[in-house]
Amino acid sequence: MCGITAYCGQNKALPFLMQGLSKLEYRGYDSAGVTTLEDHHLLTVKCKGRLTNLEEKLLSYKIEGTIGIGHTRWATHGIPSHLNSHPHNNKDETIALVHNGIIENYRELKEELLKEGYTFQSETDSEVVVQLLDHYYQGDLFKATLKVLQKIEGSYALCILSSLEPDKIIVAKKDSPLIIGKAQDAYVATSDIPALLEYTKDVYFLDDYEMAILQKDHIQFYTHEGVPIKKELTTIPYDLEAAKKDGYDTFMLKEIYEQPHVIQETMRGRINHDHISLDELKDIDFQQFHKVYFVACGTAYHASLCGAHVLEKLTRLPVISMVASEFRYNDPLIDENTLAIFVSQSGETADTLAALRLAKKYHATTIAIANVLGSTISRDADYVLYTCAGPEIAVASTKAYTTQLILLILLAYYIAQRLNKNVDLQLIHQLSHIPQYVEDILKDHTLFKEYAKLLENLHDAYFIGRGLDYASVLEGALKLKEISYVHADAYVAGELKHGPIALIENGSVVIAVALQPHIAAKTLSNIQETIARGAKVILLTTHNQEVKNIENTYYLPDIAPVLQSILVAIPLQLIAYYTACLKKCDVDKPRNLAKSVTVE
Ligand code: AGP
Ligand code: GLU
Repeated sequence: MCGITAYCGQNKALPFLMQGLSKLEYRGYDSAGVTTLEDHHLLTVKCKGRLTNLEEKLLSYKIEGTIGIGHTRWATHGIPSHLNSHPHNNKDETIALVHNGIIENYRELKEELLKEGYTFQSETDSEVVVQLLDHYYQGDLFKATLKVLQKIEGSYALCILSSLEPDKIIVAKKDSPLIIGKAQDAYVATSDIPALLEYTKDVYFLDDYEMAILQKDHIQFYTHEGVPIKKELTTIPYDLEAAKKDGYDTFMLKEIYEQPHVIQETMRGRINHDHISLDELKDIDFQQFHKVYFVACGTAYHASLCGAHVLEKLTRLPVISMVASEFRYNDPLIDENTLAIFVSQSGETADTLAALRLAKKYHATTIAIANVLGSTISRDADYVLYTCAGPEIAVASTKAYTTQLILLILLAYYIAQRLNKNVDLQLIHQLSHIPQYVEDILKDHTLFKEYAKLLENLHDAYFIGRGLDYASVLEGALKLKEISYVHADAYVAGELKHGPIALIENGSVVIAVALQPHIAAKTLSNIQETIARGAKVILLTTHNQEVKNIENTYYLPDIAPVLQSILVAIPLQLIAYYTACLKKCDVDKPRNLAKSVTVE
């Protein structure tokens, strides 16, 4: 995710660029930059850190240009730094480019350009695109762009500006958002509606494999093959505040619905047919490890339970999952033959960071699974893999959780392959269908809204599951309690008869997950025990299970049980979300909670 702005018009470009970037900071904010055309030359000003750093830096420049591009970065390749920030220029600074997304084949393209004598300023994937433009430019920027679009693979929203053709900005889109605005004095382009809404409500939505040439009083649309096309002008019906949430009522709901896209982005470039590729870990000798620890907090801990389950099943290595606040004071058995994996969305959680430093003190090999490039945990670990969830604004974690699950499953399969274990290739093939499965489940949101009505006036709710399903219900219970303040607890279904069933009475609501084929029937009989004592049940299962007299049953697609953990998160998130809405809770900022717990 990142924020892109572009302006081509009658007035100064900078005011539009900067106001737009300030409204897009929720999309990315580890560095920022702008390029404008000043006296026939490109002037690029960029820096690490928040947009205020760039605003301060710009005070030393006299910027009058009426054409320009801007970018706030959410790094995916290359930590936040001045050189890695956008816009990126070619060597003679006649072309500037900003990019949102991931260029999947940037390594091989970079190799080809290096052989041609090109040098690179940054570690980013994006810089490859501007160097390719330089390589293909022979007097026609549009033709050079068409050639580049045929070469690059991955996701991108691009804005390209050149002093060689100073009257235009070329934009192109595939998988990353780009919106074009028709303002009174200009044509503009931005990553998201908030950035242009104060200038115009009249927009063109670029579709994948489309591009456009923006000029100050003209615009022309094309396919990526250069075929001219017509686009309809749309008028935005809502205001700025709603637009920041992409029209959703809350950031949490927006982030729940971003999951198909960010799951796709997290898998991008990491599955090559039957092979998982995680080049970041290629130097690790996995044969050396006798044991593996997973260490995290909260939602990240629940994701690590799934990762640990899969890794142990595939490799038969002893794998232990621990909450970081316990790990760090538990004098764990760690040595140089231990692999310790730390999962953290923010990369700043104090307990997880302390646990990481303890593991390193005892010479464990450490891997961080993080969502924020350049975060402390990502920098302190020996190795790091990033989820590509983009900024998660809502306190309650949703898209970070499902992208952690995806990445931890990929990691487990990668380690198994590195240890020459047999892996279930069918599961790897099913991964590519996950975004669509999630999309389909999201379409059933009205059903989950109905389920939430069962919880609206309750003080307590009970979640039950076994095996991997237990990790799912732990996360489901956390979601419900942290945003709706309903006292929700998760129990291993087999433990009910050892005490918790004493809590069940007439009208109790039990949310059960029964997705693991080898033990689902056991959970179903546990459910009957609760129904016999007056409970109402919401059951999440598959058609493989024989379900009797459970009115609120939701059937998930019949795919590999490991992947069910990702899918079942969606109903559990939406049940929690709609319950909180019914109870008029502040969903994005629940009481007593912080997005990142940087204290013990
Ligand atoms: C989950 O919804 C909460 N926001 C919280 O449990 C969170 O998962 C936990 O604090 C860990 O945060 P981290 O992933 O940033 O380390
Ligand atoms: N992948 C590019 C980078 O890491 C763009 C990231 C973004 O979308 O902000 O610079």
